[in-house]
Amino acid sequence: MSRKVLVTDHVFADLETERSLLEPHGVELTLADEVDEDSLVAAVADAEGMLVCYAKVPEAVVEAAADAGVKVISRYGIGFDNIDIDAATRRGIVVTYVPDYCLDEVADHTLGLLLGLTRGIVDADRDVRRGEWAVPQGTVHRLQGRRLAVIGAGGIGRKVIARAQAFGFEIVAYDPFIEEWNLDVERADTIEEAFAEADAITLHVPMSEENRHMVSRGSIAKMNRAPVLVNTSRGPLVEMDAAAEALESGALSGVALDVTEEEPPPLDHPLRRHPRAILTPHMGFYSIEAQQELQRRAAEEVVRALTGEAPDRPVNPEVLAAS
Ligand SMILES: NC(=O)c1ccc[n+]([C@@H]2O[C@H](COP(=O)([O-])OP(=O)(O)OC[C@H]3O[C@@H](n4cnc5c(N)ncnc54)[C@H](O)[C@@H]3O)[C@@H](O)[C@H]2O)c1
Repeated sequence: MSRKVLVTDHVFADLETERSLLEPHGVELTLADEVDEDSLVAAVADAEGMLVCYAKVPEAVVEAAADAGVKVISRYGIGFDNIDIDAATRRGIVVTYVPDYCLDEVADHTLGLLLGLTRGIVDADRDVRRGEWAVPQGTVHRLQGRRLAVIGAGGIGRKVIARAQAFGFEIVAYDPFIEEWNLDVERADTIEEAFAEADAITLHVPMSEENRHMVSRGSIAKMNRAPVLVNTSRGPLVEMDAAAEALESGALSGVALDVTEEEPPPLDHPLRRHPRAILTPHMGFYSIEAQQELQRRAAEEVVRALTGEAPDRPVNPEVLAAS
């Protein structure tokens, strides 16, 4: 009987890259039909490894995976908040990720959204398509000197800072976890300070319970300059209904989201219709090159784990030390 690796879900055109790497090791790929907990518990029963995109892998699925003899859960991507890492660690399963395959793409997408909002490009294009031809009055400001708050100065936040500097934004960054500040931009001591006088805000932090709704009704109320908001990180960082209300009331002057609390967002959500909102389908990571690299590197981690080699990028290296 051939060995199996379960792909819970994916967003790619096909899985040929993964097959070409795994089949020479006698490993067959199976794709889960559904991603709810019960379906994944059943689907993982004869697997030795897992490749996971956005599907939730809670404790029950990890337990079933461990019982089946799964050695590795390889996440296609940077964030791993959809996988119960503690459960995997307890059961001795290494979780891997690909932390750096698309930093330039996400930073470029962030600037694209920021410029789309601040220059009014998307809204103007919609008007032209409707047959109009008028310079939008009273909404577009000179970018030079506008104040941009960058929340989270890790891999992507730093690349966003470098790009935004080239456009002349005055930047304030907030990241309390960086001990030695080696960035040539102003540092905020609190998130409230970063938000207070920002003309634009962009989020580049991981999703965690502490970070959930870091932009909420409460935090928007303390923003003094009706900023534009960009989120290319994780949907639950922004309370989406609060963002829609703030656009309506004028507390925010634009909202661009590549990620939303629910993906896709409900068809009747007001942000889908608002002229000052831009929504993209969680595609910040995407370029032809980044996607190829992601598929290859995620599959290579599975090969390493199944052939007894140490994975390149373990999330929970303590599992390897213990084995
Ligand atoms: N849209 C996409 O397709 C896409 C693709 C890749 C990554 N992402 C997301 O982008 C985000 C950032 O990725 P990265 O590679 O820069 O991560 P990173 O780990 O390199 O950097 C994150 C930074 O956030 C900081 N941070 C954590 N909590 C914070 C808080 N409350 N306030 C301020 N700073 C805080 C950390 O200290 C760290 O420096 C992640 O959420 C990731 O999931 C999205």
